[in-house]
Amino acid sequence: MERNVIGVFDSGVGGLTVLKELVDLLPNCSYIYFADTLNCPYGPKGSSEIIRLSKAITEFLINQGCSIIVVACNTATAAAIDYLRAHYPIPFVGMEPAVKPAALATKTKSIGVLATKGTFKGRLYQETTSKFATNINIWYQVGSGLVELVEQGKFDTHEAKVLLRKYIDPMLEKNIDHLVLGCTHYPFFIPTLADIIPKDITIVNPAPSVAKQTARVLAKMHLPNAKPAYNNNGKETFVKFYSSGSTETLQRLVNKIEQDTGILFKNKIFNAHTLFL
Ligand code: DGL
Repeated sequence: MERNVIGVFDSGVGGLTVLKELVDLLPNCSYIYFADTLNCPYGPKGSSEIIRLSKAITEFLINQGCSIIVVACNTATAAAIDYLRAHYPIPFVGMEPAVKPAALATKTKSIGVLATKGTFKGRLYQETTSKFATNINIWYQVGSGLVELVEQGKFDTHEAKVLLRKYIDPMLEKNIDHLVLGCTHYPFFIPTLADIIPKDITIVNPAPSVAKQTARVLAKMHLPNAKPAYNNNGKETFVKFYSSGSTETLQRLVNKIEQDTGILFKNKIFNAHTLFL
């Protein structure tokens, strides 16, 4: 049976944290993952540059047969999703800043948000904070250098711990009880974060809700194979991976996700694509 093809893209390997949730929930779809490793990081770039890159990736994914695209990057969502929705005839699912669940659940009335400069500048973040975070304190921090560490595969190193401490210790002093990970690269730091932050602080990773939102959009499109499945352990999912630069960390992390989840990525190929050369 024809499978639906879901396009997923990010500035690099960060969107794999969303892909992991997608294949777990929707194993019967096929996926094409595009990592714009050549142009990573997006965080410090201006929005017109991010729109230009997102357009090129979107057109590539549509040409490959994708019928829906998940923008698995908070920064690209902030800069480009309005443009993409207005210019292409397919649905786009973007990253939510996830301030809402943290703001609703906090008991100390104090939450921390770690994201890129581009994400904090975006309309979505501004709107969500002014809507849901009126009676609480939000301590936000640009995670400069963190994306680069993940791209180099150094998310579980001493270097990572030192940088995370620098960003998070001041938030701990403000008595936060929720830490929102506002960048799809950051969930790779979760095991490292466990050594830095007290256990009673909730880490908010928006990736599972983005996967659920994708399932809802697919259901509305009435496509076959769009039914969520649970316990995908041991199943196989068709995924093709493209990178505009190196594929080294991408391959390593894909293997890690397979080992961690027990999901096998079938038809797993890695291409360094010449889209931006
Ligand atoms: N994964 C991207 C995000 O969620 C990283 C941004 C970057 O490349 O700086 O924002």
